[in-house]
Amino acid sequence: MKSYHLDHPGSINGVVMREGDVPTPGPGEALVRIRANSLNARDLGVVYGIRKIPVGAVPLTDGAGTVEALGTGAHRFRTGERVITAFHPDWIGGPRPPLLRQDLNSVAGMLSEYVVVHEDALVRAPEHLTFEEAATLPCAALAAWNALISYAPLAPGETVLVQGTGGVSIFALQFAKLFGARVIATSSTAAKLGHLRSFGADDVVDYVAEPNWEIPVRKLTDDRGVDLVVEVACDMMRTLKCVRNGARISVLSRLSATAPDISLVSIIGRHITIHGIGTGSRNDLEAMLRAISLHQLHPVIDRVFPFESAAEAYRHLERRAHIGKVVISHG
Ligand SMILES: NC(=O)c1ccc[n+]([C@@H]2O[C@H](COP(=O)([O-])OP(=O)(O)OC[C@H]3O[C@@H](n4cnc5c(N)ncnc54)[C@H](OP(=O)(O)O)[C@@H]3O)[C@@H](O)[C@H]2O)c1
Repeated sequence: MKSYHLDHPGSINGVVMREGDVPTPGPGEALVRIRANSLNARDLGVVYGIRKIPVGAVPLTDGAGTVEALGTGAHRFRTGERVITAFHPDWIGGPRPPLLRQDLNSVAGMLSEYVVVHEDALVRAPEHLTFEEAATLPCAALAAWNALISYAPLAPGETVLVQGTGGVSIFALQFAKLFGARVIATSSTAAKLGHLRSFGADDVVDYVAEPNWEIPVRKLTDDRGVDLVVEVACDMMRTLKCVRNGARISVLSRLSATAPDISLVSIIGRHITIHGIGTGSRNDLEAMLRAISLHQLHPVIDRVFPFESAAEAYRHLERRAHIGKVVISHG
C-alpha cells in the first residue's frame, strides 16, 4: 500500500510517498481503507514543523473510507461500513479530558491507503455524502459546529459573523443558516463575496476594501452589534467592536498577535463571553452528523486532487484561493 510520510519537516516536498505493508488490526482496532482526505490550515503547520508530529509519521487528521477488517473484540462496526475519523480519538464526550492526546495525528495519520485505528476513533459517515464530502467533516466542520452551539446554542433570528471563506467559516455559515440565524460574512475579494451570498450569507463585507470592517458590520445590525462571532481572523480588537453587549465570541485561532489589544474592561463591562474551541468530542461529531443527515447538507468543496498529487493539494491550500475545503481523493 502507499502512504505519505513527513520525512523532512519544513517543506511540502518533505511529505514523501512510500510503499509498505497493509497493517493488521490488533484487539479493539479497525483496518480502514481510506478513500478521501481533506486538508485543514493546521496541516500546513504540521508540514512546516510548527505543529509537531514525529519525523516520518503519516500526516493529516481527516479521512473517510470503509472498514476492511476488525481486530478481536472490536464490535462498533461491521466490515464494509463507511466511516470517518474522529479528530480526538480519546475524547468521547463531555468536557475536554485533561490528559487528551493531541489529535489523531498522534496516533495514526490519515494520508495513507490503509490505516489501523482504535474503533473508538471512528464514526459512521452520513449516507448521502460521497467519500470526498465526508472527509471534510472531522476537523473544520466540527470546530464550526461547536463554535455556534457549545457555549449557548444559537437561536433563530440571532446574527452571526463569519470571517473569510475557508473550511471552518463556510461550515459555520451553512450551520448558522440551519439554525435560522442571519449571517454576515467577510472576505477578501468581490468574487468570494459573491460565492458567500450564493451559500446563503445575508450580508457581506470586503475586509480588504474596508480595513475597518467592524464599522460596516455594526451598521448592518443598526449599530446593535452581532450576537456571535466565529473568530478566525485573529483580530480580536475589531471583533470586540462589532459585537453587542452580552455577545459570544468563539475563538478558533491563535490570538498572540492581537492579545495586547484585548480590553478586559470592555469584556467585563459589556458582559461579553469569549470561549475557546478545540474541535470537539466524538459525541459532538455524531450530533453534528445527525444534523447534516437530517438536512441533507453538502459540504462546499473547492477542489479535489488525486492521491498521487497530494503535494499539489497542500500548495493549493497554501495559496488561499480556495473557498471551503480542499480534498484528496484516492479514486
Ligand atoms: N480551534 C479549532 O478547533 C480549529 C479547527 C479548525 C481550524 N482552526 C483554525 O481556524 C482558522 C481557519 O481554518 P480553516 O481550516 O478554515 O482555514 P482555511 O481553509 O485555510 O481558510 C483560511 C481563510 O481565512 C480567511 N482569512 C484569512 N485572514 C483573514 C482575516 N484577516 N480576516 C478574515 N478572514 C481571513 C481567508 O478567506 P478569504 O480569502 O475569503 O478572506 C482564508 O482563505 C485557522 O487559523 C485554523 O488553524 C481552528
